Amino acid sequence: MTQHPAHRLSVAPMMDWTDRHCRVFHRLMTRRAMLYTEMVTAPAVVHGPRERLLGYSEVEHPVALQLGGSDPAELAAAVRLARPFGYDEINLNVGCPSDRVQSGCFGAVLMERPALVADCVAAMIAEADVPVTVKCRIGVDDQLPEEVLPAFLETVAAAGVSHFVIHARKAWLQGLSPKENREIPPLDYPLVVAMKRRFPEFTICLNGGVTSLAQAEALLAQGLDGVMLGRAAYNDPEVLIDADRLWGEAPARDVWQVVEAMRPYIAAHLAAGGRLHQITRHMLGLFTGRPGARLWRRVLSEGASRPGAGLEVLDEALAGLQASAA
Ligand SMILES: Cc1cc2nc3c(=O)[nH]c(=O)nc-3n(C[C@H](O)[C@H](O)[C@H](O)COP(=O)(O)O)c2cc1C
Repeated sequence: MTQHPAHRLSVAPMMDWTDRHCRVFHRLMTRRAMLYTEMVTAPAVVHGPRERLLGYSEVEHPVALQLGGSDPAELAAAVRLARPFGYDEINLNVGCPSDRVQSGCFGAVLMERPALVADCVAAMIAEADVPVTVKCRIGVDDQLPEEVLPAFLETVAAAGVSHFVIHARKAWLQGLSPKENREIPPLDYPLVVAMKRRFPEFTICLNGGVTSLAQAEALLAQGLDGVMLGRAAYNDPEVLIDADRLWGEAPARDVWQVVEAMRPYIAAHLAAGGRLHQITRHMLGLFTGRPGARLWRRVLSEGASRPGAGLEVLDEALAGLQASAA
């Protein structure tokens, strides 16, 4: 067994996607990869329904909490309040370009305020008993990434962070939707690799546009410490099935076994009053590219939303899939 750390491969924080149910599902495919929560804002942690926002299942470890915010005192309070939940890492979001995030002055707009980010992480580190990391872009708007990115990393590192996840493209703060900001600005992998060469003592993980394990392995071979998968892991989760090979390990399960392993978790959720769709919506992409994948999606998405839907919907979706595969 190799000793590579969990961040060698991770699943990205994705709002409305990587909730606790999604993370349990992903964990059944990879025992090793670090899983990130959706972004939770510091004010929400301080004033909101904490158990609902921060609660998760023990099986999700290793799991990182991503926070959003730009007020050092409030972020520190959020870290303090989150501590009893036992996350393995706390990450600050300096990459998300959504309007909602910008108006609160957090997310990607913070790329323009490295000193403020340094204050934020210093305050967070003072309250944290686990590593504090930063997820950022290579720059925003008309910034020159090859100049601002190393300066940003140095400033933030001086405050005590040595682990960065870099989404290898700029964010445009005006004129592009969050979705376009994940597609239109060009990817610059060489710049992220160059940051690792320039700061070998930092942990540098690359994010953005990676769709396969082979691609992740090729990037790791260039000296990066980790690769973070976002949309690929969500839309085609089978990519995670063999992910533990990055730690020299065989897959935990095949896709069919993953579905079976979800049953007790789903049953417990239903018994506690939860709805089927809350879990199965994350499983729609599981058989992508296989015969019957469309039928699986349809049966599951239509059936699981009906009031009182239970595990029989999963049986029906599986039966359709097996019939198509035969
Ligand atoms: C639906 C969705 C929600 C996202 N929410 C967050 C978020 O809460 N925090 C964050 O840092 N990035 C967020 N992102 C960006 C991803 O973490 C990631 O940086 C981006 O999708 C690029 O990686 P990919 O090409 O592998 O998807 C989100 C992306 C998507 C698709």
